[in-house]
Amino acid sequence: MIETAAARPADLGDIMDIERDGDASWSKAAFEVALGNDGWFLVARENGQVSGFIIGRFDGFDVELLKLSVAVASRKRGVATRLLQQLLRLSKQKGAGVCHLEVNAGNLPAIALYRKLGFSLTGLRKGYYRTKVGFSDALLMAKDLR
Ligand SMILES: CC(C)(COP(=O)(O)OP(=O)(O)OC[C@H]1O[C@@H](n2cnc3c(N)ncnc32)[C@H](O)[C@@H]1OP(=O)(O)O)[C@@H](O)C(=O)NCCC(=O)NCCS
Repeated sequence: MIETAAARPADLGDIMDIERDGDASWSKAAFEVALGNDGWFLVARENGQVSGFIIGRFDGFDVELLKLSVAVASRKRGVATRLLQQLLRLSKQKGAGVCHLEVNAGNLPAIALYRKLGFSLTGLRKGYYRTKVGFSDALLMAKDLR
């Protein structure tokens, strides 16, 4: 069974392992800062094992999705859906108006997930990400929570 809970400092080792499965863009220090930020830093657990995490920053008005990643071995089983639904539920309870996010235009699994959960395209940043082979665009997406 997939359960979600607030991330704890003791989860950071597992979180760093999952981060290495993804884009490996954040350091452990960045995750430590996120543990103290306003918003939500949640992990998914299955049989006690951390299988994914999500971080949303809340500025008192809107929530920005900063990170979402699932361990390779746990993908395509609804973990990200569970985490994102829980983040949206908690954000709504706190009165957040909109959830914003930014995603690499080439990240088709993530874009499909966001569309499935009701996000729509709000903008495009040309050449925003530097990749091994050049640059790729960022899509801006948002979901109204009101
Ligand atoms: C994107 C990611 C978070 C999805 O996690 P997941 O737990 O596998 O997602 P779910 O099982 O909840 O899938 C939900 C929906 O997402 C979409 N999706 C997920 N993986 C997909 C894939 N490989 N190809 C196409 N669509 C996919 C589908 O619409 C899926 O719904 P379906 O199962 O009914 O087809 C995961 O692939 C990941 O961690 N990627 C690396 C990090 C990353 O890119 N994070 C997002 C940064 S913005």
